[in-house]
Amino acid sequence: MKILAIESSCDETAAAVVVNGTKILSSAVASSTLMHAKYGGIVPEVAAREQLKCILSTITEALDQAQMKLTDIDSLAVTVGPGLIGSLLVGVETAKTIAFVSGKPIIPVNHVLAHMYANFVHSDGQNSSREESRDNIVFPVISLVVSGGHTELFLLKNEKDIAWLGGTLDDAAGEAFDKSARLLGFENRGGPAIQEAASGYHVSGGKYQGTLPRPMMHDGTLNFSFSGLKTAILREVNKLKEAGSLDASRINHFAYEVQEAITDVLVAKTLHAAEMHNAQGIWISGGVAANAKLREKLKKTIEEKRPGTQLRIPPISLCTDNAVYIAAYAYFRGSPIDWHDITAIPDLSVEEI
Ligand code: KG4
Ligand code: ZN
Repeated sequence: MKILAIESSCDETAAAVVVNGTKILSSAVASSTLMHAKYGGIVPEVAAREQLKCILSTITEALDQAQMKLTDIDSLAVTVGPGLIGSLLVGVETAKTIAFVSGKPIIPVNHVLAHMYANFVHSDGQNSSREESRDNIVFPVISLVVSGGHTELFLLKNEKDIAWLGGTLDDAAGEAFDKSARLLGFENRGGPAIQEAASGYHVSGGKYQGTLPRPMMHDGTLNFSFSGLKTAILREVNKLKEAGSLDASRINHFAYEVQEAITDVLVAKTLHAAEMHNAQGIWISGGVAANAKLREKLKKTIEEKRPGTQLRIPPISLCTDNAVYIAAYAYFRGSPIDWHDITAIPDLSVEEI
């Protein structure tokens, strides 16, 4: 089954063609980086206007890359929420129009749940010769979705049966990375800037000795809180700024501490959930799952504390927003509905659809 998926819930505009939820035929993502640099972050109306300009060319690019015409596609899939209303509408209205003119079925997709389905996709992409299919996946699975807007833990009993276990009570982990990056002067480059600066810590050294809190790490729940961490970061950065000592090496050391604090909490909570539910597999997904320290720390901790547990982490290109996992979700868990009934739902909860 060939699905053409469309994603425009936040600042990316993406389309992809995926076969049977696992094999990527194409993936096109229109970058929003230049726009961010110009406007100093996401301005929702500006984002939606830019997405409107590039949505059709992005879909055309995905079809061209897959060497397909619309008539070759079996079904459409589109992110209906959660996300920014203007941005969601661009994808939703475009997908509905295509469904209407082509007569193809259309599957509504929850963006947050879809993130974890990146773990079903062949990790080496369209030229895959590897037999890495859903048959190799073991359940039950504890799945952590960590993105710019979400930090959620789920239990998957199988590829369709999903239960939400806990999530952030305030900021998402990605938000904590992004806000820390801004405080440290890395405008609009978020988590990747923190990762890069943190990797420079060992090289350049640094004198900063503070230890950031690990909020709720051992409270026994499966919830998270990252807003206190942000306040602690703000306080420390201000102290260093006032003392005139926020130099490059301190920034690197500070980025390192931020990354350690966030990843410690994410790993501890995920392992705790795995323990509670006797998980055979652990997955992570979402933009923050691209973080090298998180990937490495999780792998190491599983080897130490739960050897034999199957760890699945999507390749970096499938962690941040794209339409491939939208198609994968649609294939494994979605159901088509009448295009008239497809609507953008900005506050769609992680337990709907
Ligand atoms: O999943 P995503 O692309 O968009 C949302 O659905 O929110 O996630 C974006 C988030 C941002 O907060 C970004 O800073 C973070 O993922 N991110 C990272 C890394 N790459 C992206 N955070 C830490 N380390 C990274 N390497
Ligand atoms: Zn996302």
